[in-house]
Amino acid sequence: MPSWSIDPGTAVKDLGDLFGLFFEDLNHAADGGLYAELVQNRSFEFEPIDNPDYHALTAWRAIGSASVSVQDASPLHPRNPHYARVAARGAGEGIENLGFGKGMCLGAGKVYRFSCFARSDTPVTLDVTLGGARATLCVLGPWKQYRLELTTTTDTTQGTLALTLAQPGEVDVDMVSVFPADTFMGRENGLRRDLAETLADMRPRFLRFPGGCLVHDGSLDPDARDSMYRWKNTIGPVHERPSRRSGWRYNQTLGLGFYEYFLLCEDIGAKPLPIVSGGCDPHHKRFAPLDALQPWIDDALDLIEFANGPVSSAWGAVRARLGHPAPFGLEYIGIGNEEVGAPFFERLPFFVEAIRARYPDIRIIGTSGPFAAGGEYARGWDSAQALGIDIVDEHYYQAPEWYLANMDRYLRYPADGPRVFLGEYASWGNQYENALVEAAYMVQMQNAPAVALACYAPLFCHVDYVNWRPDMIWFDGGRVLKTANYHVQSLFMRHQGDMLLQSEITGLDVPAPGTAPPIAGGLSLGVNDITARFGDIRVWADGVQTRFDGGMLCGQAEKPLCTVTASAYALECTVERLEGIKGVRVTFGIQDEQNRVIWGVGGWENQDSLIDLRVRGRGSCLTQSEFSMRDGHPYRLRLEVDGRRIRTYIDGALQNDTRYDLPSNRPLYLTASRESESGDLLLKGVNLSEGPITVDIALQSAQARWDATAHTLEGIALDAENTFDAPDRVAPTEKCFTLESSRFPYTFAPRSVVALRLKAM
Ligand code: AHR
Repeated sequence: MPSWSIDPGTAVKDLGDLFGLFFEDLNHAADGGLYAELVQNRSFEFEPIDNPDYHALTAWRAIGSASVSVQDASPLHPRNPHYARVAARGAGEGIENLGFGKGMCLGAGKVYRFSCFARSDTPVTLDVTLGGARATLCVLGPWKQYRLELTTTTDTTQGTLALTLAQPGEVDVDMVSVFPADTFMGRENGLRRDLAETLADMRPRFLRFPGGCLVHDGSLDPDARDSMYRWKNTIGPVHERPSRRSGWRYNQTLGLGFYEYFLLCEDIGAKPLPIVSGGCDPHHKRFAPLDALQPWIDDALDLIEFANGPVSSAWGAVRARLGHPAPFGLEYIGIGNEEVGAPFFERLPFFVEAIRARYPDIRIIGTSGPFAAGGEYARGWDSAQALGIDIVDEHYYQAPEWYLANMDRYLRYPADGPRVFLGEYASWGNQYENALVEAAYMVQMQNAPAVALACYAPLFCHVDYVNWRPDMIWFDGGRVLKTANYHVQSLFMRHQGDMLLQSEITGLDVPAPGTAPPIAGGLSLGVNDITARFGDIRVWADGVQTRFDGGMLCGQAEKPLCTVTASAYALECTVERLEGIKGVRVTFGIQDEQNRVIWGVGGWENQDSLIDLRVRGRGSCLTQSEFSMRDGHPYRLRLEVDGRRIRTYIDGALQNDTRYDLPSNRPLYLTASRESESGDLLLKGVNLSEGPITVDIALQSAQARWDATAHTLEGIALDAENTFDAPDRVAPTEKCFTLESSRFPYTFAPRSVVALRLKAM
């Protein structure tokens, strides 16, 4: 029987803020989601720049023969330039908002807070109808805010809000808003209680916000409609916040802004971890000129003052005016989201220097880009080392097989350099198998001295607006679905502890590393939305050189070459792009549609040379380097495969050098920690194997009796996935028992995740 000896008296790592959350407004996570506003396009600011299907009256419709026009003369506020003019020809005509998704989810007997700005030169009686409730406003005079409370009488998931005129007439309306009175913590301009409570229940140590690509995708002008995310635009009265195009192809009202994010952090007990732009948009290659970088640096400095400054400071005073004189206790700031390329790293030192000079205690988070390895990843880490950055934000979305092959990744990172923030990761699925693998990875992150912070991504998805999947929490207008991944994240946060304990595992059967088969299989050449001419194609395998005819390929065409069984082989070809903006691919190790390795020359945005592994149809980028293909240049490509090692060259220069390692795992991953406040010991284990594993656990403690609670995910099929119809296919169970000794056997069920909480009796 394997044994696990734990020394509760010896702490080997301060777990600090290890497991937290990442919030980004994609998949309508904020507008239409966590932000409790029920009216979509409340300020008539939707535009095709947000989404080609949008217009100023998106989500609105006229009632009866009312004429509804969008106006901009004498608006409510210059940053909110449009409003609706509603002209009723008959009584009961007006305008109706359809809400988000399939409609507003309203509950009988619930109280809702309606508000709008309206103006009219002549008296207008405006009826407000919501879920069977009706109230009346009398509008007269210039722009003024009107407020009402409505208690709805019907249950519906397809509710609407109607504003109708009691007689023929005309009225201007803007910022038409409905919030449930029962928001999270009862806050005005608040958050959906059910969704926020789902987060609070996890007990996250930190919250990274506001994104993601959302932070760095946009123009450099803070006043432009497609501006990058600039936090100063997101505070103050909501009708004075500009509308923003989000790179996720919808409109962001910014109603959930930085003040609200800080409040959310406070309310759920998570430390705020904001990310600000480094003045670079890598998607569109926009970079703030070096001599115009100061406003971007000021955004970072002012944010720290906004969060932490005394009320006597300029930005501390702003915070106090908003209602929070006490500081928010900001400890971290991230500069840039998964940035790549020299321009960002040229600008980063200016941020670091300025923040260090004024706020030496703030922990600065750098970035190593969106890849787990390669040139840009190395550039991120090198810059962090050179600049003395505290923490590096790594991001990757990979197949479960990649995580299984890389379980010990962070155990190999030095403990004394910048520490790791795994700021975005997931294993391409919401099935139990994904969550199980992620759980084992989390055990190893807890065990690795180098890892300081980690959070799964993305967090939320509205079922009617899917930009990205998988996601941790799914929802619609009224329901919340916790995924298998949620339950794992939650177990790890709730039972994290603050000190990693010294422990030793012996006698665990670890499979001896076998000889991995070579990356053999089919070989082919293909194009990615371009027209290209291939020539001089040669393959070397088993000492034989074979030549293939060249020719033109266009669109997504693929040209199969041959099947290779040798353990070492090479391919060379010349390729010239004739049309299009992307690049080409060399596919090798082809087993079938779902299992293959792709060398992408150009990649998603023609910025990379990357090795992308497909296992069971799920991708893992093994490594990346910067490369852009241009027209009219005949490139000489060379791929070399030697066993599990893959190297690529373009025009003789090494581009990628990586290994495709197969999973070879321990059956059981274990980690032990202590929670100082309660004094509890927290033993977590993930059994990846198909059989039960009984472990002889020995606590080096004088304590004899323990109250134990086992929180477990077990007895669940690997492909089980929670749905709204079956929300608890994957759900933790809880079992309490007493231990009469500090040495006891514990059986980790097959394919289980266990958090064992031990309380001294
Ligand atoms: O989480 C989804 C996206 O993935 C994030 O916006 C971005 O940072 C990453 O590429």
